[in-house]
Amino acid sequence: MHRVLPLKVHYYGTPVVLVSSANPDGTTNVAPMSSAWWLGQHAVLGLAASSRTTQNMLRTGEAVLNLASADLVGHVDRLALLSGSPELSPHKRDTGYRYEPRKFEVAGLTPEPSDLIAPDRVVECPIQLECHVSSHYPIDPDSPGALAIHVRVLRAHVDDAVRLPGSDHIDPKAWDPLIMKFCDFFGDSQPLIPSRLAAGWRMPGRLGDRRSCARSS
Ligand SMILES: Cc1cc2nc3c(=O)[nH]c(=O)nc-3n(C[C@H](O)[C@H](O)[C@H](O)COP(=O)(O)O)c2cc1C
Repeated sequence: MHRVLPLKVHYYGTPVVLVSSANPDGTTNVAPMSSAWWLGQHAVLGLAASSRTTQNMLRTGEAVLNLASADLVGHVDRLALLSGSPELSPHKRDTGYRYEPRKFEVAGLTPEPSDLIAPDRVVECPIQLECHVSSHYPIDPDSPGALAIHVRVLRAHVDDAVRLPGSDHIDPKAWDPLIMKFCDFFGDSQPLIPSRLAAGWRMPGRLGDRRSCARSS
């Protein structure tokens, strides 16, 4: 039976992205986010207007989207209640956030220069996407606190560990994204059922027959 529920949150499960962006003093800020979706060489990010990441991205037009694997959960969690912005909103202060200008150090992450843009990449993330901002607008015109920011991928850096050997593809069985689901972290590299879409697109490295999967339907 389905019930009508006044759901307060719609975080059904999305990969965690560590966004690096350039601070006004030239250092790199890094912050976790997960309201992101992808199409072709483009992504749309849902970000709070007040975050340092948003301010940096709109000022410089640049960001690196570093995709976090499940084994980075401890590092990501250490960033959870930090902001690179010295001015915190009363809500953030009440929630326990604090200003931290040295986020790489505090999270135990390693910066590495990008090729085409100013902000550093996160070495530990197997997929790092150098991006340009193409446009932005408020998600809710009546409440400008959250923005949809469109970015275009300029260059992708992919660790061999998640590359399908000899191809320009990510191996979906090797790539184990850290998933944020209703504010909790999940990383489940278990294959479930073969995807009809992957079969239709003739994607390389897709799951085999249903017997090789944890579940069948
Ligand atoms: C796993 C995770 C996912 C998050 N997803 C988002 C998100 O999608 N959009 C957003 O605006 N903030 C998100 N946040 C909160 C930001 O990380 C937080 O506002 C942070 O202070 C931003 O840092 P900054 O001010 O240095 O940019 C998320 C936090 C965590 C830990």
